[in-house]
Amino acid sequence: MRRLPALTVPYAALRARAGAAKDRVAALALHNIAIRRDSTGALRGFALSLWLTCTAVGAQGQTLDVLHWWTSAGERRAVEQLVLQLDKRGIAWRDAAIPGGGGGGAMKVLNSRVLARDPPDAAQVIGRTLADWSDLGLVLPLDEVAQRNRWSQSLFPLVQRVITHRGHIVAAPLGVHRINTLFFNQRVWAQLKLGAPKTWGDVEQAAAALRRAGIAPFAWSDEPWQIATVFETLLLSEGGPALYGELAATQRWQAWQDPRVAKALERLRWLRRLNGETAIEQRWTASARQLFTGDAGMLIMGDWVDGELVAWGAQAGRDYGCAPVPDTAGMHLYSIDTLAMLVGTKRREAEQERMAEVVVSPAAQLAYNQAKGSVPVRDDIDPAQLDECARDSWQTLKRDYSPLLPSIAHRMAADEATKDALADALHRFVKDPAITPARAQERLVALIRSAARTTPSP
Ligand code: BGC
Repeated sequence: MRRLPALTVPYAALRARAGAAKDRVAALALHNIAIRRDSTGALRGFALSLWLTCTAVGAQGQTLDVLHWWTSAGERRAVEQLVLQLDKRGIAWRDAAIPGGGGGGAMKVLNSRVLARDPPDAAQVIGRTLADWSDLGLVLPLDEVAQRNRWSQSLFPLVQRVITHRGHIVAAPLGVHRINTLFFNQRVWAQLKLGAPKTWGDVEQAAAALRRAGIAPFAWSDEPWQIATVFETLLLSEGGPALYGELAATQRWQAWQDPRVAKALERLRWLRRLNGETAIEQRWTASARQLFTGDAGMLIMGDWVDGELVAWGAQAGRDYGCAPVPDTAGMHLYSIDTLAMLVGTKRREAEQERMAEVVVSPAAQLAYNQAKGSVPVRDDIDPAQLDECARDSWQTLKRDYSPLLPSIAHRMAADEATKDALADALHRFVKDPAITPARAQERLVALIRSAARTTPSP
């Protein structure tokens, strides 16, 4: 494994040397992240020293430190876009990136920083966690910024709902990810003359053809959060939007007793077995890499994979395709990324508000989301500027009648502890063939039941 050196040149020096070249500006804030190649040849970002010493930008400039978990190639490109836009408004981004897909590690670091009274100025705090944190008074309300910039007129109503808690705007929305996405390698598909997989039958047929060609049907990982991500798409597929909606409203634990939950568990096991019994726990970027190289034919994952494939030089529609997970066409299982401005001891409200304003602006929205794989939170952009995966996602959000369902695995519908407990139970289920779907379902019911007892209604 060859390590490339981390860039540790101070911001001001780099900036001067670059002769104010814009792309350098973007590079600065991010290069506390070292890059290494893993055994599959994938570029993988991970934070080495979490703090880059930045100096203030411009006379009235200010540096804000931002905690998040965007460390892959696509994620870093997306953050670079924000850094560029913020730089124009005199805000420097000091990067506190905590590696780990799904953000489990980042949330632990964030908790301990808050407990140590050293919160970052801004952090990726999303969904139920955002609501919980704002109840604790840890989050700066952004009502004035939202009003000044007429967010309510330009944001998707869904986004507006997600960032509103007890009548206040509590975060700046960044992008909407679609979880129910099935990626397939278009070149392999052309070679094997396969049609886009629309049904589970198509998936089964494609899997057989892929196996005959010596290609793994699925890029798969047994990491608990990845299993949970796949599983919720199966809950939607097997249960339909009405049942999924009830399952996600975790207060109604009885819904988890529905026989369709057991069917989704069976489907999960079936899907994993399409690959044989060789599943390993690998990062989502390694799975995306298998899809990219054609070592694997399909991957079910949130559309941050789209951003990653683009960062590696692939193109939607030419090198890879995206289909909704079978039986979820026209539905949007969403996870919305949001930046919360944390209340700290440093009195940075003016800059925090400016950051919120910038990241929601049309220019930042388009640039960031094109790199991230998510779609803009605004419904007033031109969808022709999105690739075909993102366009389908954005248009699904835009249609009045689309079922929009919150991700359980990505904190939209469950708190941190509940989503972790569910992911652990699913992990145990896929790892241990002695656990029947019926037993696994009982476990899920018990978990949700006790969470419903202890969690106040949102
Ligand atoms: C976040 C995405 C991120 C993904 C992979 C999700 O929970 O919402 O922004 O790219 O995890 O780490």
